[in-house]
Amino acid sequence: MAFALPVWLAVHEELLRHGEADCGTCSCFDEFDDEALFQLFHLSRPCVAFIADAVRGRLKTLPLDEPGLPADAMVMLALNYYAHGVNSAPVLQRVGLSQADGAALVVGTVSGVVAAMSDEFISFPLSPGAKANVASKVEGLCGIPRVLGVLAPAHFKIRASPYEKNSFRSFVNTLGYTSVVSQIVCDSDGNVLSVDRCCVGSTCEQEMWESSSEGKEMEKELLGSYWVVGGKGYHLSTHILTPLSVPDGESEIRFNEAHAKIHSVMRTTLGSLKRRFRCLMQLGFAQEASLNKKSNIIKACCVLHNIAKKFSVPPPPPAGKIEALHPGKQLSAPAEVDPEALQARQKVIDENFSVVSSSQDPAGNVTEESERAEPVCRLLEEASSTHHGQTLD
Ligand SMILES: *[C@@H]1O[C@H](CO)[C@@H](O)[C@H](O)[C@H]1NC(C)=O
Ligand SMILES: *[C@@H]1O[C@H](CO)[C@@H](O)[C@H](O)[C@H]1NC(C)=O
Repeated sequence: MAFALPVWLAVHEELLRHGEADCGTCSCFDEFDDEALFQLFHLSRPCVAFIADAVRGRLKTLPLDEPGLPADAMVMLALNYYAHGVNSAPVLQRVGLSQADGAALVVGTVSGVVAAMSDEFISFPLSPGAKANVASKVEGLCGIPRVLGVLAPAHFKIRASPYEKNSFRSFVNTLGYTSVVSQIVCDSDGNVLSVDRCCVGSTCEQEMWESSSEGKEMEKELLGSYWVVGGKGYHLSTHILTPLSVPDGESEIRFNEAHAKIHSVMRTTLGSLKRRFRCLMQLGFAQEASLNKKSNIIKACCVLHNIAKKFSVPPPPPAGKIEALHPGKQLSAPAEVDPEALQARQKVIDENFSVVSSSQDPAGNVTEESERAEPVCRLLEEASSTHHGQTLD
């Protein structure tokens, strides 16, 4: 991440000072104890306070034509929806809505505000210092030098109308279910470094990369000679480092193991994102013409994920197996591979994987940083009894 903790805390204090003037001590989160708070929002109290402050300030600048709910109540509805995909009875009660209907509009508004905060809380490393910092952590983890992050298409389930056949088909991904897909890049600690607007589920990841600003900048070599690590759904290029499909010999096997190790950070990251923000497990009804709403929810959850990591709040424990990464479209055109790219990858293999080194320990397990933090998440175990709301679309 581009911001050091002291900067964040300074920002926080600044926000607090602004907030105090017109809000006093009126946080509607206060009446939940820590345990209930984590259960309802999958976040800790300091983290919720930080988010509420940040959103409150920004909501004030919007012309709202919505039910006159106080800002904190709006934030509460949205955070609760992200955590569970529905609004919990105690939250609806607290904000005085009898059912979740009115909440959808509020969640949409707050999501727009939080998604816009990605400028501050999600940053692809652009300065030489930031790049070197991200790359050295990746190198420490897996032994591959000059890597700026892990690139993957993140698929999120949606419902689509089967009556609009063409549109429905465009949402069906290679695994056969309807989804929207966003391009995500994360660092070796599982922080989100970039998240693009979502597309229909059938969009192929190579296309998304080529049209994304990160892709364009990297392919133009504006970023210098760095890689992002990508899976088999991407073309090997001088900027996307893919694994060898048929590794030959010890060095290539070691390289593929290192690639798998750093690539698996994305799986852990998406797993923890979907555990904390269960709305991402099923984003509800989607239409091609209004994907912005889904984009905002996905971006908002990524912003909140990064904030939660800054505050070391672990996600709730896994309820089952962590979903595998989406396998992507299998590319079948090895003839087209850029010889320069092959050469660049070979150079990494020769220089860094021809002898075993300590950073290439294939047995070393990747544990996400937040999962080693305090075990607050035990609180969540009896959670599910509180969800009575309706799914928001
Ligand atoms: C990878 O190779 C380069 C060039 O020889 C070297 O500078 C770097 O330290 C190596 N990194 C690792 C982790 O082996
Ligand atoms: C990695 O995880 C596996 C299975 O959970 C375990 O058996 C193994 O000891 C772990 N290795 C390290 C280096 O922690």
